Amino acid sequence: MKRFGLIGYPLGHSFSKLYFTKKFEEEGLEDHVYELYPIEHLSDFENLINSNRDLCGLNVTIPHKIGIMFYLDKIDADAKAIDAVNCIKVIKGRPLESFFTGEVSSMKMRLEGYNTDCYGFELSLKPLLKKHHTKALVLGSGGSSRAVTYVLGKLGIDYQIVSRKRSRKQILYSDLSAELLSEHTLIINTTPVGMSPAVDACPDIPYEFLKDKHLLYDLVYNPAETMFLKKGKEQGATIKNGEEMLHLQAERSWEIWNS
Ligand SMILES: NC(=O)c1ccc[n+]([C@@H]2O[C@H](COP(=O)([O-])OP(=O)(O)OC[C@H]3O[C@@H](n4cnc5c(N)ncnc54)[C@H](OP(=O)(O)O)[C@@H]3O)[C@@H](O)[C@H]2O)c1
Repeated sequence: MKRFGLIGYPLGHSFSKLYFTKKFEEEGLEDHVYELYPIEHLSDFENLINSNRDLCGLNVTIPHKIGIMFYLDKIDADAKAIDAVNCIKVIKGRPLESFFTGEVSSMKMRLEGYNTDCYGFELSLKPLLKKHHTKALVLGSGGSSRAVTYVLGKLGIDYQIVSRKRSRKQILYSDLSAELLSEHTLIINTTPVGMSPAVDACPDIPYEFLKDKHLLYDLVYNPAETMFLKKGKEQGATIKNGEEMLHLQAERSWEIWNS
């Protein structure tokens, strides 16, 4: 049996379980299984690894994307720069490399951490970018905001984080003016605001200042057209939801687990 799964807490509806279960069925991978592992405390992670010797890969979600890094033998450069891991490759046996690098762990497998959110975001954003998309507003400062700002940095797009808390690097929603919106023609929602079932909610930005040169990207994928995107579309903006990013990050996980 080749076992894959998702760790996080709480784990309700899971896109990943549906996605991979369907994929295994369609590809005739009868000895593959994708399970949910609701772990509240990461202190239970070691036990999960040691008692599931057929584990080959894991996805990681809220609230463990950062804490999990302390349990891994190696963290890939993108994930290190973002400071969050959402994909773990489990390698059977602890190869000789661990002995020479002096890694000490009571776990019997080698664990490598990756961030596939950045891959999904970059690939799905790039085809929509126009020359005038040189400045972005990133709504929210959580885990996915870090992956998004990492990609924007890589693409040479200046960004400003908008948050409910002011800090040296963050402005408030109430700071958003006509001028700021006119300069920042790419706006990315990395908050869960507007996600089902709270479909009538949307980030508190002055939508009346949006124009057709704006590109609104919502990481939320359920509903397909959030209130944020709907209001942007009404102003003539181009809109994109998080579905393609979700599929791309899952496929990238699959590639990593099979590499
Ligand atoms: N499409 C994809 O592939 C994909 C991938 C990852 C995540 N997502 C989606 O992106 C969303 C965020 O995920 P995440 O992992 O980044 O979550 P997270 O770490 O909890 O961060 C979300 C951020 O949103 C802001 N926020 C939270 N509640 C808010 C509220 N009521 N009003 C205004 N702002 C609020 C907060 O930023 P401030 O404190 O700075 O305001 C918070 O740090 C989720 O809906 C998730 O499903 C989609």
